[in-house]
Amino acid sequence: MKINAPLLNTIAKKFGTPTYVYDLDRIKHQYRLFCEAFPWPTLKIFYAMKANYNISVLTTIKNLGAGIDAVSPGDLYMALSCGFDPSKIIYTANNMKDTEMEEVAATGVLLNIDSLSRLEKYANAYPNTKVCLRFNPGVVDGEHDKIKTGGDLTKFGILLEDVNKVKAITGKYGLKVVGIHEHTGSGLIKPDSILNAMEQIFSIATRENFPDLAFLDFGGGFKVAYGPDEVPVDYKLMGAQVVERFSNFCSSYGKELELRFEPGKYLTAQAGQLLVEVNTVKHNRNRTICGTDSGFPQLIRPMFYDAHHTIKNISNPEGKPSVYDICGNICETGDLFAKDRFLPEIRENDILSIQDAGAYCYAMGGTYNLRPMPAEVVVENSKAFLSRKRLTPRQLIDLICRESTDINRL
Ligand code: LLP
Repeated sequence: MKINAPLLNTIAKKFGTPTYVYDLDRIKHQYRLFCEAFPWPTLKIFYAMKANYNISVLTTIKNLGAGIDAVSPGDLYMALSCGFDPSKIIYTANNMKDTEMEEVAATGVLLNIDSLSRLEKYANAYPNTKVCLRFNPGVVDGEHDKIKTGGDLTKFGILLEDVNKVKAITGKYGLKVVGIHEHTGSGLIKPDSILNAMEQIFSIATRENFPDLAFLDFGGGFKVAYGPDEVPVDYKLMGAQVVERFSNFCSSYGKELELRFEPGKYLTAQAGQLLVEVNTVKHNRNRTICGTDSGFPQLIRPMFYDAHHTIKNISNPEGKPSVYDICGNICETGDLFAKDRFLPEIRENDILSIQDAGAYCYAMGGTYNLRPMPAEVVVENSKAFLSRKRLTPRQLIDLICRESTDINRL
């Protein structure tokens, strides 16, 4: 199922580097695994497209039957352009402004409101409509401090203790609360976090509080193993526990609700890799620094979250191993993909693959130092296609000049 080294080398030769490669078959596999792990009759997956908005990835996920978790008007228009039906999109922006709310509401997509103040404004503008409410589960977890979302130190969601204030607003304006949502964090490391968060939501999602519920949405956060030492989570076990608790909840609520999740990483992280070319090997006393043709604006997770991404030398897999620092081409000292990595001998012009780069890598990219983003290639049934081209530096600058309204200063 893995994309083999000869195909990766061919991709690097044909499309150049840096290039992201996405394995669409792996995404389909992950989707099926997820559905199997959470066997609820009305399980619904709303893919968190913030992880990877590549058109081929989105289309693949749409064809599997998933919906979309959108967090900005850009996300929303991208999902609509890819053919997702508005009824299969949930809009969960944080700190949304009035014009954004109006723009989104006009598309007919369900809004997921995450503060009392926005709820009041929404209710006032759209009385007697359907709405989803995002609560903060008060459970703190995630694989890095920057991506822990629950707990009262974060900016997300309505506190559980404010449920009566919520009811006062929804009652006054006749809002129909059809869904309750929470998202605890990304890369949940404590096995019980999702169950604890569910219990918190169950405590307020009663018939008395919210008689019109159609679904509960427990967000994303399903951790994938990035490093070789990380033990993969047993999702079959977790799924069985989740389904059992959800089933009990539905019995006490008196209706079989939809069980919704919004995985991002789980579906796409392991399906992606970034191919880079080594252009400089520098021996600095006792360090060997390996310079590549990409950099942190194109894959920021190591620099931003101290994230581990496995690296493979696909040009020389049998080479004699040695210790390397793998760097980018950006004018910042922290521009490192990996430090002290034991890898088969790396030579100039070798192609390295930075693994597990299908989520929050291209999507978090930018053009700092005015280096264009990598190309994106997708592989399906062992065939590779260019999905999005890499601009040349000249094309990038032409684009910027075209967008600049004070061009006549030049
Ligand atoms: N739902 C909501 C409301 C979210 O905020 C997120 C992620 C997800 C679902 C999907 O979470 P996932 O299943 O992908 O863990 N850039 C970080 C991750 C940030 C996640 C933000 N929200 C990283 O690279 O680790």
